Amino acid sequence: MGPDPVATTLAALRSAGLYRRRRVVDGRATGALQVVDGRELLVFCSNDYLGLAQDPRIAEAFARAAANYGVGSGASHLVTGHHREHHALEEELAAFTGRPRALLFSTGYMANLGVACALAGRGDNVLEDRLNHASLLDAGLLCGARFSRFAHADAGALRRRLEACGEGRALVLTDGVFSMDGGLAPLPAMAGACARHRARLVVDDAHGLGVLGASGRGSLEHFGMSADQVAMLVGTFGKAFGTFGAFAAGDEDLIELLIQRSRSYIYTTALPPAVAAATRAALSIAQAEPWRRERTLAHAARFRRLALRAGLPLGESPTPIQPVLLGQPHAATAASEALAERGFLVAAIRPPTVPAGTSRLRVTFSAAHTEQDVERLVEALVEILAGTAQRHQAPRREGDSPHAGTVPAASAPGAPDRP
Ligand SMILES: Cc1ncc(COP(=O)(O)O)c(C=O)c1O
Repeated sequence: MGPDPVATTLAALRSAGLYRRRRVVDGRATGALQVVDGRELLVFCSNDYLGLAQDPRIAEAFARAAANYGVGSGASHLVTGHHREHHALEEELAAFTGRPRALLFSTGYMANLGVACALAGRGDNVLEDRLNHASLLDAGLLCGARFSRFAHADAGALRRRLEACGEGRALVLTDGVFSMDGGLAPLPAMAGACARHRARLVVDDAHGLGVLGASGRGSLEHFGMSADQVAMLVGTFGKAFGTFGAFAAGDEDLIELLIQRSRSYIYTTALPPAVAAATRAALSIAQAEPWRRERTLAHAARFRRLALRAGLPLGESPTPIQPVLLGQPHAATAASEALAERGFLVAAIRPPTVPAGTSRLRVTFSAAHTEQDVERLVEALVEILAGTAQRHQAPRREGDSPHAGTVPAASAPGAPDRP
């Protein structure tokens, strides 16, 4: 008998510095402090951008709804699972996004699968930014269309791909804010290219909604775009809104098509109604308390100012996601461990989540942080990275990555695979 392939795979991951390990969280102390593996750490890597995940008003809405309706929804939306709370949340999301309708999905991953598989199939073309979230990439691969990726945040590259598309519909999928880089997709130029080629544009704004734009309506509002420039918007609740679940928003017919055709909508149990009730509370708080997103963005700007002055290798990002680029996986894990020794939790992000050579600390900011928290983090980073930043700095040109271009299958070696 040869070596056990499972053990070999695990050993290879360990020796490459790519082994993943879960931490056990016991609960929140105060603000962004969490008890993790028995230690109190200041968390700088969650997606709780508005500091709502522990908000007592949201917890109370959840508890009240659970007491009234029970916990489980009991069935899928198309059987008996579609509760009044779900329906009301869909209407509020439609109003929030300025679109005729919204449809709840159990997770963002499932929303992206459901949208892509309803809007494209065999004979069609799916075009994606090469740094899209794994759920969008998987959706594009699973829907059975011809799949290709274009250079990151490059509307010219998208235009050329659209020109080269043969017969069939074209569906373009992109993150609004790239989850591991924090940069924005050039949405106005992408929407222009899609309009010229009669392609449908879908934007997953998981990291923009609630955070960007004058009223927190996300990347489209940030760019001053109208709803009709983007056929469908996907959003998640597990990030800025501090709860769980997701939605897609679009016109009447597109949403009806999702209800009829999205397998990840049809064949799954509806979210607990109490999650919908909690999310309604979160949506209302996020709109009523703009100071939350202002504070988060101010923290990110302060961090950039201090970190760049200290020579830390940051990416280009105007959002609360601020990557510190370290290059090799071991450099990122060592920095993450050294930060934990100093009381900070910042997870190391390594391939296949990001392309080879771009391992990083993905630092994120929250309204739950204080200015002093931000300053202390920069001091700790400077101490840890002094002298190593140059050695480990990642390649910065997009074209440097081996991942550009068309990948034929989900198992394409090294395809970035974003969490
Ligand atoms: C851009 C993006 N889309 C979708 C998802 C998936 O959302 P969910 O966690 O609700 O499955 C994530 C992260 O989780 C994400 O970063």
